[in-house]
Amino acid sequence: MIIETLSTFPHMYDSVMGTSIMRIAQEKGILEFRTYDLRDWTHDVHRTTDDYPFGGGQGLLMKPEPIFEAYDDIVSGENAGSAGEPYTIFLNPTGKPFDEALASQLAEKERLLFICGHYEGIDERAYSLADECISLGDYVLSSGELASMVVIDAVVRKLPGVLGDEGSAIDESFYDGLLEYPQYTRPASYRGLNVPEVLLSGNHAAIAKWRRQQAIERTARLRPDMLARANLSPEERAFLDNLLQ
Ligand SMILES: C[S@@+](CC[C@H](N)C(=O)[O-])C[C@H]1O[C@@H](n2cnc3c(N)ncnc32)[C@H](O)[C@@H]1O
Repeated sequence: MIIETLSTFPHMYDSVMGTSIMRIAQEKGILEFRTYDLRDWTHDVHRTTDDYPFGGGQGLLMKPEPIFEAYDDIVSGENAGSAGEPYTIFLNPTGKPFDEALASQLAEKERLLFICGHYEGIDERAYSLADECISLGDYVLSSGELASMVVIDAVVRKLPGVLGDEGSAIDESFYDGLLEYPQYTRPASYRGLNVPEVLLSGNHAAIAKWRRQQAIERTARLRPDMLARANLSPEERAFLDNLLQ
């Protein structure tokens, strides 16, 4: 997969994209990651990417011209390769709420381009380039770079071969509509807190059943809104009904 970002602060990606799973995905050749500096498409000596909003108001808005010009070059330039036009994403508090299902959809694309806002946001006309607008939640961040890194991380860990153990993405929260079960590592007993006996039993069927039931119980307690979409067997549904009584 190719992931590209267009932003005024491309160095913000250095640490996150150069560390851990994101670095390994690139080293394995599964991810090709590129940043573009929006200032490279400005035409004044100060390399200006923002301006005052028409009608007045607080702060500065990102100008449309550098964004459109950069987009044209990114789409048609030498980086286009065989992956075709990028699926173009803007990060914005007014966008579609980001979740695991959307991360899975994006992981199917060959090429993603994130266009990142800063300051008070982006001139509305630039959104005509968007295939998708994504919000991380009902709060305001200072930058789209930060938001895009969250989306990129959630997408890249879904790409085949990125996680060492292929099962680990399947076991995690939200995979089948449930929160993850509680997990423990050594020591088996610490400060009077003991690991549940079943996990020490070596009985894999009993462990699998316990984990499913813990996931169901935890989801019912912490995120009951998720239960309607959870993928449960008839036996698990009966277990849940019993819990809710
Ligand atoms: C200070 S914010 C602009 C907020 C904008 N004035 C508003 O009230 O909707 C600057 C940039 O951060 C990013 N951003 C802020 N909050 C976000 C969120 N909840 N989800 C995704 N991106 C966000 C967007 O790219 C936005 O253009």
